[in-house]
Amino acid sequence: MLLCPRAVTAALATASAASTLILPVAAASSKRGLVFTPNVTAPADDKIWIEEPTTLTWYYNYGPNPESVYQDVPQSEFEFVPMMWGAPDSLDDTSFLSTVKSLIKSKGINITNVLSFNEPDGSFEYGGSQIEPSTAAQLWVNNMIPLQEMGVRVGLPACTGGSSGLPWLQNFLAECSELISSKDKQRNCTFDFVTIHWYGNFEGLASHMGEYSAAFPNKTMWITEFNLNDRDLEATQSFYNMSTEYFDRLDFVERYSYFGAFRSNVSNIGPNGAMLSDNGSLTDIGAWYLGRQPTGILPTSSSSLHLPLPQKVVAVFAAVVAAAISLA
Ligand SMILES: *[C@@H]1O[C@H](CO)[C@@H](O)[C@H](O)[C@H]1NC(C)=O
Ligand SMILES: *[C@@H]1O[C@H](CO)[C@@H](O)[C@H](O)[C@H]1NC(C)=O
Ligand SMILES: *[C@@H]1O[C@H](CO)[C@@H](O)[C@H](O)[C@H]1NC(C)=O
Ligand SMILES: *[C@@H]1O[C@H](CO)[C@@H](O)[C@H](O)[C@H]1NC(C)=O
Ligand SMILES: *[C@@H]1O[C@H](CO)[C@@H](O)[C@H](O)[C@H]1NC(C)=O
Ligand SMILES: *[C@@H]1O[C@H](CO)[C@@H](O)[C@H](O)[C@H]1NC(C)=O
Ligand SMILES: *[C@@H]1O[C@H](CO)[C@@H](O)[C@H](O)[C@H]1NC(C)=O
Repeated sequence: MLLCPRAVTAALATASAASTLILPVAAASSKRGLVFTPNVTAPADDKIWIEEPTTLTWYYNYGPNPESVYQDVPQSEFEFVPMMWGAPDSLDDTSFLSTVKSLIKSKGINITNVLSFNEPDGSFEYGGSQIEPSTAAQLWVNNMIPLQEMGVRVGLPACTGGSSGLPWLQNFLAECSELISSKDKQRNCTFDFVTIHWYGNFEGLASHMGEYSAAFPNKTMWITEFNLNDRDLEATQSFYNMSTEYFDRLDFVERYSYFGAFRSNVSNIGPNGAMLSDNGSLTDIGAWYLGRQPTGILPTSSSSLHLPLPQKVVAVFAAVVAAAISLA
């Protein structure tokens, strides 16, 4: 697969800047993307992900329209992937289809992939879109099939990582097939890739991926939300390292996006999985994800519990300086 020019430039720039260092930074990854979560009070946070160098080649924002903050970055360098997310009030509603069509036809944005429903097997209370398989099937027929006919690739709905996911998908596919089959010709709704979410440890992730690979053989996979939630920093970093290395190595993993791109003190998955510290700096995981050297900044920047010794000394020194300044 070709690397995008911006990623190559970034990798070269980093390589030459770091040429005296032995430690290589992560290679630019064409699989890696951003789950965009906006920060309205600190809009500078939103720009962190497109600053050079970055490995990110695509993003989604749980909605059908691209972010205005990224409008100057070409689609070919940072691909926007629209998402339908949930069910509109009416089964006949084709506003997702018309929005995507207008992005392509009126705005000239080269949309080649879309995501369908977000955790339809999960309740609203936990961020799911709570859709009956039969409802989802009708909406799919009305919105996704016409996009597929235009050559747009569509992802199977992204269920929760729980045991309700596969049965929901089987029901959905059965309902969908019924809608498009006739008495003498059985047809199936098709999809271009499987989309999964995972919160938990690495072994659980690998086994979850195995179950989905068995259920949908020969399909590529996008992991559009994943993390080890509510664990200490070392366990979280170890999970991050193992899962991203695993995804990079597996051919059937087409894309992945780490959750999440927000500050640690608003995180709903515990502070250590956040890629920004509570004061808005990249944490080590945030920096690694962008292919940069670690920052040594803790998710909770006021604490220095997990710092290796040299950084701890620097942090203590900085705290002493800060105290001295505030006394002056
Ligand atoms: C749109 O993107 C696809 C996939 O990256 C590419 O193959 C195609 O050439 C692009 N089309 C245009 C008109 O840029
Ligand atoms: C449709 O899917 C079902 C279940 O996976 C499968 O048994 C059947 O052969 C498929 N039919 C067609 C026409 O592809
Ligand atoms: C998967 O792909 C391989 C190679 O293209 C093919 O031999 C095999 O039959 C496929 N399996 C299924 C279940 O479609
Ligand atoms: C994660 O990987 C980085 C190198 O990319 C390494 O410095 C760090 O020690 C690793 N952490 C864990 C907990 O495996
Ligand atoms: C947005 O930035 C503010 C600081 O201005 C911070 O308090 C808040 O936690 C941030 N929100 C997110 C979602 O990161
Ligand atoms: C997050 O931390 C920043 C200070 O670093 C603070 O300004 C902000 O109010 C905090 N936000 C929340 C929701 O606690
Ligand atoms: C956040 O705090 C860390 C140290 O606690 C500091 O290195 C970093 O520069 C701060 N970030 C911002 C954006 O102020």
